[in-house]
Amino acid sequence: KPQAIVFDLDGVITDTAHLHFLAWREVAAELGIVIDEVFNDRLKGISRGESLLRILRHGGKEGVFTQAEREQIAARKNALYVDSLRSLTPEAVLPGIKELLTTLRTEQIKTGLASVSLNAPAILQALQMTSLFDFCANAALIRRSKPDPEIFLAACNGLHVNPRACIGIEDAQAGIEAINASGMRSVGIGSTLTGADLLLPTTEFLTWPRLSAFWQLDK
Ligand code: G6P
Ligand code: MG
Repeated sequence: KPQAIVFDLDGVITDTAHLHFLAWREVAAELGIVIDEVFNDRLKGISRGESLLRILRHGGKEGVFTQAEREQIAARKNALYVDSLRSLTPEAVLPGIKELLTTLRTEQIKTGLASVSLNAPAILQALQMTSLFDFCANAALIRRSKPDPEIFLAACNGLHVNPRACIGIEDAQAGIEAINASGMRSVGIGSTLTGADLLLPTTEFLTWPRLSAFWQLDK
């Protein structure tokens, strides 16, 4: 069996992507930039600062703001986002995830989190999921966003496991690319992803028997 399974947060553990979208949409509108859910897909797995740069580029406002102004805009988005997180309860955990993490405990497979969100620890707390993870990579120490493998490698490092003996789970294209580049085997959630070693339509299909069969088949 695999030594560890490393999870992305937004879109895999809980669906905070929509809350990120609402906050960015409001901030973008204040700058006269319109973004929709299709554009938002390209922000998944991308850090806060890099997301803002992409939004500004999308609106043709690249180079309009100074670094200090951009930091203020990003802080405003985060304030809106953190405010919306108050509505987050354990019920917001996506279907099958809690069962999977609990089973991984009994199977003695290590569990890790690889989210570039600086809010990840607070989100796990709100979901009452903190104790189900052996190690959460510290987003503050990550220099390169997905698709760079840095955060997945940091998670494996913290778990003291070899990436080649692990599975990574992602719902974003940049995330699948990050997992593949790390040497882990990739599991994608969603129908529009390419390059995942295993693709499942929703988290409901994410069960230990399914992952175990995948691990053995691929060997
Ligand atoms: C995740 C989300 C991104 C978000 C990033 C940073 O990767 O998919 O949409 O921009 O985290 O989140 P933060 O909470 O630090 O702004
Ligand atoms: Mg995600």
